[in-house]
Amino acid sequence: MKVLFIGSAESKAFFQKALTGHAEITADKNADACVVEVSDASTLFRLPKKFGVPTFFYITKKDRQILEAMKDFRISGIFFPPLKEEDVVKKLTDGNKQPDTANGGEFDTLKAKIIAKAENIPPLPALARELVRLTRNDKTKMKDFVDQIKKDQGLSSRIIKLVNSPFYGLRQEISSIDRATVLMGLNTVKNLALAVSTESFYNKNFSLLKTTGQEIWQHSFMVAMLCEAIGKAAGEDEDALYLAGLMHDMGKTVIVDFLVKEAATIEDERTQLGTDHCAVGELVLTKWSVVKSIAEAVRGHHEKGRDRFSQILYFANQMHKAKNIDEVNDLIDDCAMAMNLPPEAISSVVLPILETEEEEDAAS
Ligand SMILES: [Fe+2]
Ligand SMILES: [Fe+2]
Repeated sequence: MKVLFIGSAESKAFFQKALTGHAEITADKNADACVVEVSDASTLFRLPKKFGVPTFFYITKKDRQILEAMKDFRISGIFFPPLKEEDVVKKLTDGNKQPDTANGGEFDTLKAKIIAKAENIPPLPALARELVRLTRNDKTKMKDFVDQIKKDQGLSSRIIKLVNSPFYGLRQEISSIDRATVLMGLNTVKNLALAVSTESFYNKNFSLLKTTGQEIWQHSFMVAMLCEAIGKAAGEDEDALYLAGLMHDMGKTVIVDFLVKEAATIEDERTQLGTDHCAVGELVLTKWSVVKSIAEAVRGHHEKGRDRFSQILYFANQMHKAKNIDEVNDLIDDCAMAMNLPPEAISSVVLPILETEEEEDAAS
């Protein structure tokens, strides 16, 4: 395979090294694929809109003008710094294997735009970023973070509101983060802080997905709690599962901007966009440096999955979407079987969460 590289000598050397054994970088116009380094919007104005071979842009800086102008190009993929050798190989070789879609490659351009959008998603708030990295074993650090949470008025009051929701079944009203920490533990407070810090990402119009941002967030919060509970029962990493549940539908916040008509199902998303919120969710999570296993589980959350971790996310999501108790019970049985546990081990932790929500809904 021959790859035509247009760009700086330094980047060319990187691609050359990364592709050793897979492809050869040439200056030959008759290559099998093309990589164009784009460092400012004016580079784009000099390029043809359509290339005869799979073409990739290496966008060296995230400049709104470039991303805006890029919309007019038909490309197979985008690279952003920092470049990683394995990404270069994977994207270039995959891109080449991809047959043209029924839409004559239109999806590739759309996909590139969606990828660019996912890559440009605003970062998680600094505190949340630290919390994502934190493990439950790191007690002293966690204590520091709780101190930081306390300093943030908005965050604290939102957490306190959640603490007092029926899910936690506390008999007394909690009015401080300190009290919440004593009663529920550092870890729960940490997880609530994470939940609150993702809320702003859902602050947009989701009518084309036939839902609202508040509804998706609420669903994600519930799935996080279900994941955590099942994880605990099954002896899996409940913290990581909570995070997976919390962020599993994050891809929706990106794809919704590209829909042109209603998409009620994941198949609708694929028909319209050539991709879906699961794949895009993985990109966002990777961008946020969430560990790979979680990002991968998010990618597969609409399929039953092979490993226990992904299966828990799948079942938690399905349980919360289930329309009636029979469906829930079937899912509990399947989940118990997959986890090698008696059904009661799952139902005893899952049903209280689902029932509390019903009570809350009825009350409001
Ligand atoms: Fe989903
Ligand atoms: Fe979901």
